[in-house]
Amino acid sequence: GHHIISMTSFSRDMIDSILETAERMEPIALGKQRSGLLTGKILAVLFFEPSTRTRMSFETAMYRLGGDVLNLGSVDASSIAKGETLADTIRVVDGYADAIVLRHPKEGAAQLAAEFSTIPILNAGDGAGHHPTQTLLDLYTIKRESRLEGLKIALAGDLKYGRTVHSLCYALSLYGAEITLISPRELRMPEEIISDLEKRGAKVTETDTIEDAINEVDVIYMTRIQKERFPDPAEYEKVANRLKITPELLTDARPELRIMHPLPRVNEIDTGVDETQHACYFKQAFYGVPVRMALLALVLGAIEI
Ligand code: CP
Repeated sequence: GHHIISMTSFSRDMIDSILETAERMEPIALGKQRSGLLTGKILAVLFFEPSTRTRMSFETAMYRLGGDVLNLGSVDASSIAKGETLADTIRVVDGYADAIVLRHPKEGAAQLAAEFSTIPILNAGDGAGHHPTQTLLDLYTIKRESRLEGLKIALAGDLKYGRTVHSLCYALSLYGAEITLISPRELRMPEEIISDLEKRGAKVTETDTIEDAINEVDVIYMTRIQKERFPDPAEYEKVANRLKITPELLTDARPELRIMHPLPRVNEIDTGVDETQHACYFKQAFYGVPVRMALLALVLGAIEI
């Protein structure tokens, strides 16, 4: 369909086409070229959880292509505060806009929204579930700053609750990536995802320290411990501060090693790493713009791929 809910429904050809389209969008994303590709189109932005990058890069993407944005604003200022359901909200906004980008704390929320919407739904994160548009910008970053072919990557941090790594590893399996999972035991990648990945042809290994991976991989993808998803705050305290990248740890790293992070970070990447040649997380955040431009153009029918 025209919705973007999960990476599991993307073929490799489809991803490659989106990444190529994003590359052509880059001069427009940078403001160096103008485009009216989405003139007259309206994107509704429904975020029921905090966001800086996803929300603002979707809005920028829409404006850079000549479109407009309609923001629900804070949940408290909307009729959600009076108890309106997600289903009813979607049925109403369906009549106001041409596409809806949705972030919601409940896993499965985007899928549910799609059932009540005649216009495209873009999942911008559903609880600990999926974050497919983040994955596409992650893949774009890997393609631009490292290599997608024959990639060796370590995913580190909160692999249990981290939706960005859940979506990303499904996509990486299409490219036959060698994936090293690094997490505290309590935050391991869910067993069913690991078994899916193996079925899809990925090579997966698990460990609990970053040190050994540094000289083995092309990319280390760090993630924040998802404090807001822990049922018990004491459990969070046990795992907080366990995994950290510092400039010292990178002293003997190969120059080509890239450190990525979906951001926001708490303290899992020392700010001293920012000035090294390895850091590419701020560039990664920028790449959200051309990638989301490509996705919006696609779901709004302005381009075909
Ligand atoms: N990476 C990401 O989703 O960031 P935000 O939560 O700021 O949108």
